[in-house]
Amino acid sequence: MRFFVAPLAIAAACLSAVGASPSVIASRDVDLGTWLFGSILTFFPNHTGWDAGYEATFAPTLKATFNQNKYDYKTLKELYTGIHTQMTTKYTGFAVNITSAVIVPNANDLGGLITLTGDEGGVPTSGGGLITAPDSAFGVVSEINGRRWITEWRETTDFVL
Ligand SMILES: *[C@@H]1O[C@H](CO)[C@@H](O)[C@H](O)[C@H]1NC(C)=O
Ligand SMILES: *[C@@H]1O[C@H](CO)[C@@H](O)[C@H](O)[C@H]1NC(C)=O
Repeated sequence: MRFFVAPLAIAAACLSAVGASPSVIASRDVDLGTWLFGSILTFFPNHTGWDAGYEATFAPTLKATFNQNKYDYKTLKELYTGIHTQMTTKYTGFAVNITSAVIVPNANDLGGLITLTGDEGGVPTSGGGLITAPDSAFGVVSEINGRRWITEWRETTDFVL
């Protein structure tokens, strides 16, 4: 199990720290928004180690969609594995900018609802300038065994990798 209590200062720093230890984000002392922004770049598959972030964030019972297709924990991880390869071989500096977030914590537990929109993109290795496209995600965060997990994830983007 990878539950550790981490100082809040480290959790706050995660906002910009890709590859930050997934253990940081499990703390009960961290609010849902801080947890989310600490988690999201750990599993965004533009960097080596995204898979550890994925495993620390998504519940094994995950229900997910990516555009029109349905996924579970295992198949979304497979999709992300392919996306990681595309992002890191066909692009340099592939990144995401989250431009809006709606974060609604539950009243009685650590879970809640999140909706994000933003832009993602990178510079093609084949030449040309930065290509970006909008993306969005809706997630349900649930408390399981005293910590947060994403149990539902609905992601849409019209970025063509
Ligand atoms: C991944 O995306 C994040 C968020 O946009 C960015 O800060 C980071 O530099 C990117 N990582 C790599 C390895 O390109
Ligand atoms: C993210 O925002 C930065 C700063 O405005 C910009 O330079 C970069 O191109 C943006 N990247 C994407 C993928 O939208």
